[in-house]
Parts: sequence; structure tokens; C-alpha cells
Amino acid sequence: MSHHQPWPYPRVLAHRGGGTLAPENTLAGLREGVARGFRGAEFDAMLAGDGVPVLIHDETLERTTTGRGAVSARTAAQLAALDAGRWHSPRFAGEPVPSLEDALRYARAAGLWLNVEIKPAKDQAEPTGLAVGLTVARAYADLLRPGGDRAEHVDARAPLFSSFQPPALAAARAVAPNIPRGLLLARVPPDWRAQLEALGAVALHTNHKHLTAAQAGEIKQAGYWLFCYTVDEPARVRELFDWGMDAICTDRIDLVTPDLA
Ligand code: G3P
Ligand code: MG
Repeated sequence: MSHHQPWPYPRVLAHRGGGTLAPENTLAGLREGVARGFRGAEFDAMLAGDGVPVLIHDETLERTTTGRGAVSARTAAQLAALDAGRWHSPRFAGEPVPSLEDALRYARAAGLWLNVEIKPAKDQAEPTGLAVGLTVARAYADLLRPGGDRAEHVDARAPLFSSFQPPALAAARAVAPNIPRGLLLARVPPDWRAQLEALGAVALHTNHKHLTAAQAGEIKQAGYWLFCYTVDEPARVRELFDWGMDAICTDRIDLVTPDLA
């Protein structure tokens, strides 16, 4: 949905909750960002084996938890009993894998805006989009209005969905039609505009490493919001803002700070 509206959300977001200063996709990470003055965060939502969305990036548990094997082999309650903080540093030992619902509750209470990335495991795009869509729509029901996925009508306190998987965004749209969508494209392809139109997306999210100034100008001129991940150098953030980019997420919440916007 082409629109030419100004970006209404925070412009500097913590990536995966609190970037690399805290364990990714945890409430401790979200708290770390809030403590440092961040007013927005991105995180990844995937389905546990019982269909409950939780915050985690990988389909397997080894890298970020004390568990082993597939995320989908455990219920959300079992995942919550794992330690998702110790791998990062001892002070985060005991930090659980949070449910999406718990993360949304924390964010709303803290006034933290969210870019919820729908991160389906293999062949789970549709159920993940449905479950994440329903969970977010329920948590923000009081803020959502008909047509709220249009840039002109978004509530700046309600989240923006993003995903690399169009079927996940389409499923979220079906159950949460009043929450806006951004399409994640690692590189901007020639048919980016048709892909955004097909999803009724208001934003294009991309890897800044492959983005050119010309592409940024084209996307902005066409009337879409432009979001870049994951930008860890202040000088690069300034350059991207000069190109017209709307917002970024960063792993270095100590270097790339909200006052850069
Ligand atoms: O949403 C932007 C960014 O998070 C996409 O990459 O792999 O960190 O989820 P990834
Ligand atoms: Mg992500």
C-alpha cells in the first residue's frame, strides 16, 4: 500500500530485543534496551510445539539455550524452563525463553514499540502467521481500528509485523487485518513493488549492506517506509538517514543510540 506518510514509530530499534548486550529474544534484552533509552525493539516470534508463539531466532535450541533439538519438539512451558541467558553471560543465567504474550505484555507496560518479526520454522509459515497475528491482535485489541494496516491509519503504539516469508504475512493479515505489515527482503529484487502490493505491505525491510542510495530513493519515492537491519556503526546510520531511510535496528545498542535519529 503506497502512501507517502511519515514514519510514525521510533527510528532506532534494538535488534532481537537488546542487541548483543543481552541474550537475544529475552525479556532481559528488552529491559536492557529500555534502560538505555530505546523506545522500540525488533524480535523474532516462532511457534513452540504446542502452537504457542515464543521468542526465538533459530529452529534449534543449541545456540541460545541449554536445550537440544528442535524448538517444535517442546511446548512453550518446556521452553520457558530452559536457560536462554547463560550462553550470553553468567549475569543472565536463568533467563527463560519468553512467550510472545509475555513479551507483548512487558513492551506495552514499558511503552516500548515493537517490530514483531514472524519467524516460521520450515513449512510453518501459515500457522506461524496465524498464531502470531492472533496473539498480537489480542494484546493490542484496544488500539486497533478498521483500516489500521494502512499507513494513514496506523496507531503508532501498535506493532508492525515483518517477515521474510510472504505466506506468513498473508496469514497474519487474514487474522489481524488492522496491523500493518513490512516485507523483509535480504536484497531488493526487481519486483519488490509487486511483492509489497500483493501483501498490502506499507514497508520494505532490508539488509543495509546490499542497499544502494538509488534503491533507497526509489522505494521512498514510490511511497513506502524503508527499514534497514542490522546497522552497528553510527556513521552508517547517518548515511542511511541521509538516503531517506526511515528506521534501523542495531545489535550495538551502546553505540547506535536513539539520539542519532
Ligand atoms: O528483522 C530484521 C532482522 O531481524 C532480520 O534478520 O535473522 O536477525 O531475524 P534476523
Ligand atoms: Mg529478526
